[in-house]
Amino acid sequence: MEKRYDIIAALDINLDIIINAENTDLQFGQKEKMIAGYNFEMGGSSCIFASQAARLGLKAAGIGVAGDDLPGSLMVDKLKASGVITGHLRIDSSIKTGVSVILCKNGDRAILTYPGTNDGVFPQDFTDDLLKNSRHMHIGSYYLMKRLKPHYGNIVRKAKSFGLTISMDTNWDPDEKWNGEIWEVLPYVDIFMPNENEAMAIAGKDNIQDAVEKFEGIVPVLVVKRGKEGAAAYSGGREYFCRSLDVDVVDTIGAGDSFDAGFVYGFLSGYDIEKCLNIGSICGSMNTTKAGGTAGQVCKEKLAKMIKERD
Ligand SMILES: Nc1ncnc2c1ncn2[C@@H]1O[C@H](COP(=O)(O)OP(=O)(O)OP(=O)(O)O)[C@@H](O)[C@H]1O
Ligand SMILES: [Mg+2]
Repeated sequence: MEKRYDIIAALDINLDIIINAENTDLQFGQKEKMIAGYNFEMGGSSCIFASQAARLGLKAAGIGVAGDDLPGSLMVDKLKASGVITGHLRIDSSIKTGVSVILCKNGDRAILTYPGTNDGVFPQDFTDDLLKNSRHMHIGSYYLMKRLKPHYGNIVRKAKSFGLTISMDTNWDPDEKWNGEIWEVLPYVDIFMPNENEAMAIAGKDNIQDAVEKFEGIVPVLVVKRGKEGAAAYSGGREYFCRSLDVDVVDTIGAGDSFDAGFVYGFLSGYDIEKCLNIGSICGSMNTTKAGGTAGQVCKEKLAKMIKERD
């Protein structure tokens, strides 16, 4: 029987306020400076993932909480506009929506974040009803969502018992502790998608070959993202590689999350690893062509056209 949802993901609901400070000399002392522009964009790694998954036509449902405030309603509107199913989101007036102010200058960024709803999801939010009715679970922002982190071992075990496949992108650990609990989760993960530095940090190795070996036999598919260079995958004793697209990069916010959604879309479509990597690379690369995490995301039709052009 067809399941109600293709993907469920706990959302780190966060609004990104992106400030173009390119020609601005930032200064304290009550100095007012003009900026060249700003954008209100969808933030939150898992939100950007869910948005890309929905744009590719997957039935992607978010589990999460938004504050009863302007950034919260903006985020819910943006998720809906991408096609993300928002029926399982809670609106909670006792918590403020997470907001990041991202100051962009000289290709670099300074980021100020109020976490708020970023960490608003409880383990109880993964109800049996949701798990029973979903094909796949994606775990993003593993280290940021501290409330869930100690419970993910139980959550993935339960998800597996209901037949879900699982993908995971931890992103960076802001505390840089790379806590050992993750090794209780990884044996249940079908696709693990860190970037190169994260893979080495989690494995506790100083080179990528040793890190890859450490994950071998634990995760059936390991994908290691290498930014502009592209991405590699390791599965069944084989190594695969796919280059990035040569694009004019505006910023790389969310590129890794859009990549993940593209790869998972390929996986859920039953494609081989080479094709999954290709789709991930197209989604990741196109994400960089517009400001913020979602404006550059491709839809299913555009993806099909780009796959043809790349062949
Ligand atoms: N400069 C770039 N040019 C083209 N494509 C890029 C560039 N940076 C990233 N990408 C695309 O995005 C994918 C993922 O990027 P990256 O390796 O930065 O992942 P990540 O570190 O998880 O990203 P994030 O910062 O979103 O967490 C790459 O494999 C590539 O397809
Ligand atoms: Mg990442």
